[in-house]
Amino acid sequence: MNEYRKDFPMLKQGYIYFNSASTALKPQIVIDASNEYYEKYSVNTNRGVDSLGYMVTNKYEQTRNKIAKFMNANANEIIFTRGTTSGLNLVARFFESAILEDDEIIVSIHEHHANFIPWQQLCMRKKAKLILVKTYRDGTVDLDDLKSKINFNTKIVALNHISNVFGGINPLKDIATIVHQYNAYFVVDGAQGIVHEQVDVKDLDIDFYAFSGHKIYGPTGVGVLYGKYSILENMEPAEYGGEMIDVVTLNKTTFKKPPYCFEAGTMMIAEVLGLGKAIDYIQSIGYSKMNEHVKQIRHYLIERLTQEIKDIQIYNRDIVDSNLITFNIKGIHSHDVASHLDSKKIIIRAGHHCASPLMEYLGVASTIRVSLAFYNTKEECNQLVGALKEVGDYLNVLFK
Ligand SMILES: Cc1ncc(COP(=O)(O)O)c(C=O)c1O
Repeated sequence: MNEYRKDFPMLKQGYIYFNSASTALKPQIVIDASNEYYEKYSVNTNRGVDSLGYMVTNKYEQTRNKIAKFMNANANEIIFTRGTTSGLNLVARFFESAILEDDEIIVSIHEHHANFIPWQQLCMRKKAKLILVKTYRDGTVDLDDLKSKINFNTKIVALNHISNVFGGINPLKDIATIVHQYNAYFVVDGAQGIVHEQVDVKDLDIDFYAFSGHKIYGPTGVGVLYGKYSILENMEPAEYGGEMIDVVTLNKTTFKKPPYCFEAGTMMIAEVLGLGKAIDYIQSIGYSKMNEHVKQIRHYLIERLTQEIKDIQIYNRDIVDSNLITFNIKGIHSHDVASHLDSKKIIIRAGHHCASPLMEYLGVASTIRVSLAFYNTKEECNQLVGALKEVGDYLNVLFK
């Protein structure tokens, strides 16, 4: 996969980047697409009748069409958002008035804060119940436990597609079947999922799927919320303002149809255009090629870490299809490990991974997470192992 490294300007700065699950690096074509907008046709969408405006509006809508095709959705089911967090918060707001006292919302302990706090807060406001479904060690849902907990009071089941800590892949189709037997809605946090798996929302029968552009090699500040049109058309706008309206009078306002009634004000045009290029880029390589490479180097890295790093505890060693290696080294704080690696220009993630309930459940304050992408190499893994071997010595020198 070395041939693709030249596409990423950040890699020319000498960094070894093992933090793609936090945000992926951006290929030049994504950067160019955003720059081109600012340099050549930096006007607003949908306003006025000038030819540049038409052109930009067309490009913006073509990107919506491209994303719809990518996920097997209809274009009117694709809402541009700021990212996964804002997409999931928008869904929670949609259900503000529908959730009543004693209703139930099911989540798992493996949720990122973005797919936990909006539901926790909604339940607190409405005196509804937040129910935890049991999960296996890899973060995936125990379907028998889901079947035993779901009932006709359950209004929403909100789960990740792929856990950002352990990397287990949830069986979305099976979960959707169970959820719909109880007329509940299935909301999926796809922030990590769409990075690794082709998502077909129709086949999976998901009600909502939220993801972020920046994790799939696109720009920051843009994301997508897919919502089934039959649900969206019954939802109230969450924000009011320009471009989402049909007719405004002193006494009354009518709104455009979805998805436009959910895109108030000037949108992140440059970022949407960049996201379109990121999707072209992924498709030009293909998920299977990217995943196969990641699988190979992960296997290699895990073997070396296990054999050569004393007192390492890897939490997700056996999850074959993940890009994540989550671990701690006994007696050394994850932040100290990260600081040492940083001094070698090796970037990893250390902390609670925005999954504090899970950390509490595991009984650890934080972990180290190495997240691999198709642009990582075995040579980079060798350098990581070398640097990790020095961590103990580094601390001895620091604290002498
Ligand atoms: C599983 C998961 N959900 C949600 C998010 C939030 O994404 P964003 O910060 O782009 O909104 C992340 C980001 O790390 C994530 O990994």
